[in-house]
This record gives sequence, C-alpha cells and structure tokens, in this order.
Amino acid sequence: MGCLTAGEQKYSRGLEGVIAAISSISCIDGEEGHLIYRGYPIEVLAKYSTYEETAFLLLKGHLPNKKEYEEFKQQLKENAKLHPGMIDVITKFMMDAHPMDVIRSMVSLMGVFCPDKKEHTLEAKYQKAIRVTAKLPTMIAAFHRLREGKEIIDPDPNLNYAENFLYMMTGEKPDELSAKVLDIALILHAEHGMNASTFSGMVTASSLSDIYSAITSAIGTLKGPLHGGANERVMHMLDEIGSLENVKSYIENALAEKKKIMGFGHRVYKAYDPRAKILKDWAYKLCEMKGDLMHFKMGEEIEKIMIEKVGKKGIYPNVDFYSGLVYTHLGIPRDIFTPVFAMARSIGWSAHIVEYMEANRIYRPRAIYNGPIDLEYKPIEERE
Ligand code: SDX
Repeated sequence: MGCLTAGEQKYSRGLEGVIAAISSISCIDGEEGHLIYRGYPIEVLAKYSTYEETAFLLLKGHLPNKKEYEEFKQQLKENAKLHPGMIDVITKFMMDAHPMDVIRSMVSLMGVFCPDKKEHTLEAKYQKAIRVTAKLPTMIAAFHRLREGKEIIDPDPNLNYAENFLYMMTGEKPDELSAKVLDIALILHAEHGMNASTFSGMVTASSLSDIYSAITSAIGTLKGPLHGGANERVMHMLDEIGSLENVKSYIENALAEKKKIMGFGHRVYKAYDPRAKILKDWAYKLCEMKGDLMHFKMGEEIEKIMIEKVGKKGIYPNVDFYSGLVYTHLGIPRDIFTPVFAMARSIGWSAHIVEYMEANRIYRPRAIYNGPIDLEYKPIEERE
C-alpha cells in the first residue's frame, strides 16, 4: 500500500521552517528582529506614513503618488458604511457575543451582499479587499455601540481611518495623540508574512474561492490565543498578577508549570519583536499621560524576568505584549483588541491573497500515515 510512512519525508509540526510562498510583500529577520514592508523598514513607516498610505503600499506594491493616495483614501471612505441588510443582521446578534465572532460573521455576510460577486479580475479583487478594510472599523464600532444600548454612529468622511474608528466607538472625535498612536499601531499590525491567519486565508483563496470566504477563514484563525487573541490575555494576566511585587513569583511559577506567558515568544522572532519596541515607547507615553505607570512598570518587570529566564531560548516580547496597554489607554475595550488587530491585518491578508492568486496553485500538503493497513472487515455480529 503506497501510503506515505514515517521516515520517507520530514514532518514539520506546525509547518515550522516550511516555505509556503514566494512574496515581495514583507520580510522578517527573525534573528536580528527586523521587519520591512515592500522594502521599507517599519520604523520608517511608523514615523512618517499613515495606515492608509501603508495599506496602499502593501496592496499595490508601491508608495502612492498624491493622486493615488487621495483616490485610495476616498475609496476607503466611500466603502466605510454598512449595507442596510448587514445593519439589520447585526442588530439581531446576541449582545454578549465576542466581537471576533461578530466580525467573522459580518465579513462572511459581505459575500452575500457583495454587488460584484461574480467579478474575479485583479481590479475586482482590489475592490473587495478595500471594501473589507473599509468596513471592519464600522462593523466593530456598530456592534460595540449596540451592546452598550447606544445608536450606531455612521463614519464621518472628514476623519481619517484611525480617527473614524475611535469616533464611531465613542461618538467623540479623538484627540490628536490618541488618533496618531492608533494609526501607528494599525501600521505595525498590518502585515507579517506567513502568519497563521494570513496562511489560512491563502489556503481558502487557493481553491479559487472568494476573498470574503478567505478573510472569514483568516479572522477565525486570528481569534486564537496563540495568535491574535494574546493581546487581550496580557491585560487579564496583569490583573491576575495584581501588583509589581507579585510579578516575580507569578512568572516563575508559570514557567515552572510550563505555562505560556501571553505576549512572549514567536515562531520566527528569536529576538525582540521590532513592533513591540515601538509599541512599548508609545505605551509608556500613554501610561505616563494617563497616570498609570503601575501597569507599565509591571510590564517592564515581566519583560526583565522573562528575558533573564528564557531569553536564551529566543523568547522575547512580541507585538501583543504592549499593544494591550496602548489600546487600554486609547479607551478600547479588551475584547476589541483582537478585532483592532484584524482590521489592521485585513490589508495584509488581502495583499497575500491577491499576490498568491496571480500564480495560484491549490494548497494540498500530505500527511504521514501511521495507522494500520490491510485489516480484515468483520461483520458487526462478529465484533466484540
Ligand atoms: C502573533 O506568526 C506571526 O507572525 C504572528 C504574529 C503576527 O503578526 O501575525 O506575530 C502575531 O501571533 C504573536 C504571538 C502572540 N501569541 C502569544 O503571545 C502567545 C504566547 N506565545 C506562544 O504560544 C508561542 O511563543 C507562539 C505560539 C507565539 C510560538 O510558538 P512556537 O513557535 O510553536 O513555539 P513552541 O510553543 O513550540 O515553544 C517552543 C519552546 C517551548 O519550550 P520547550 O518545550 O522547548 O522547553 O518555547 C517555550 C515553549 O514552552 N515557549 C514559551 C512561550 N512561547 C514559547 N514559554 C513561555 N511563554 C511563552 N510565551
């Protein structure tokens, strides 16, 4: 029987080290802790770019000129509102649903309300991608307002992407610093190569399914605590630890029990995640401004102990460790941290889906069979 058996081919758990695509979208230097988007270091983009400009760069492959930039921002604004049918559905959701379940369902619903679902040209794929990125902030904010018993707030075309999200969440236009910090966080979360959620979206798209189905797959994958769901759990961990004095014993006990400390470790980075470095600086500024240095100092103490204990194993803070502190001080509720990650990463998902489909081949790995072979089929009467 010609099953693949152990030894014939190397099995890589979690596809560690396996190359699943060739891509020009981003490059991660895991040993040195560097990340570039389409040739630009994220430190430069975080300092000088905007989420809208970075989204164009990731999707189209180059920085936009003035005309392209204005058109792209206009496309995001024009597509930010939800179809009345989708608003009708979201009002019927259970108000205690997790917001990640809400956006996973709503993106799936976009496939039902899509006006050009039969169009599969490159331009149509771009349109669908822009529509998803444009609508995610509105979906998240709309559900949050409904579960608080408040009116849904329509997007304001005079605001940029980050400002609009905070405005639709609270009903107030955000201060300049809050909008800037969220914009930087969105840039830092926009793209990260073959991470689990991007790969799951690509697998779905590789069967020539549609972008909405692919991004629905990606959102479902990002929800997991080993991936995008870690940021919410970092804040729960700080609550559980309770004080700066408890940090050392908590972390040492957790490590002794082989527990995973949320916000640390990475399949690719064996050095400090460069995104975490930038988010840490902004977390400090926001915590200092809001007079909450206790949480920040707890974070730094966790980082110090973790690097002392497991830094030699390549375990350092990742993007999720300080993002929770940033989001907390932007007034974003904890169960909306991962949806914010999803809204930022939606453009990275789409960029990889579009890129891979340009030279598509359905993903179909193999498994080594370690079960029995050629068993005799016994009638049920003869079985014990
Ligand atoms: C994201 O892939 C991406 O790019 C993802 C992401 C993106 O932008 O898309 O960067 C976003 O998902 C960041 C990661 C967020 N998740 C967490 O913070 C959850 C905690 N981290 C771990 O679960 C873990 O580090 C992973 C999932 C991130 C990576 O896991 P791996 O590569 O499969 O590593 P592993 O679980 O096989 O662990 C290897 C060793 C083990 O020890 P030993 O058995 O060899 O002695 O490292 C240890 C693990 O116990 N380890 C940790 C740890 N992470 C790994 N020990 C304590 N705390 C941790 N966080």
